Amino acid sequence: MTEAEPGASPAAYDIDWEALRRRAVELMERAYAPYSAFPVGVAGLVDDGRVVAGCNVENASYGVGLCAECGMVSELHATGGGRLVAVYCVGGDGQALMPCGRCRQLLWENGGPECLLMTPEGVLPMTRVLPQAFGPSDLDTRHA
Ligand code: THU
Repeated sequence: MTEAEPGASPAAYDIDWEALRRRAVELMERAYAPYSAFPVGVAGLVDDGRVVAGCNVENASYGVGLCAECGMVSELHATGGGRLVAVYCVGGDGQALMPCGRCRQLLWENGGPECLLMTPEGVLPMTRVLPQAFGPSDLDTRHA
């Protein structure tokens, strides 16, 4: 999937987008989405070459359902941390799905501005997916 050193810019990685899509589809097929009937899967390439993934997990208390990206970010940290380099999120049709607003924030936190996302319009950096993002640096620079 990649030959770049951990911490390298996403541009340095040889990203196998089709492999990420296949992994996202596998996870989508494991989604627990009995309330919305809207399964989602996501897979992300980590800067050390790992691939982490997640699916949405809903709840009878509708508001506490977990988006697929939550599971992916949990796996990221549970398996050693690192930075997301490239992310592919799919809906039930297996095609690229734009992450919801909250999950774009999760991707920003764990991948940063250069992290790449497959979108219905092709690959875009997070700076295009979440323009003028609030992020960790604001906590230092904008503190009263
Ligand atoms: N969903 C995700 O898992 N990720 C997103 O980025 C968009 C929405 C899930 C939440 C809910 O289980 C279902 O899709 C319908 O909103």
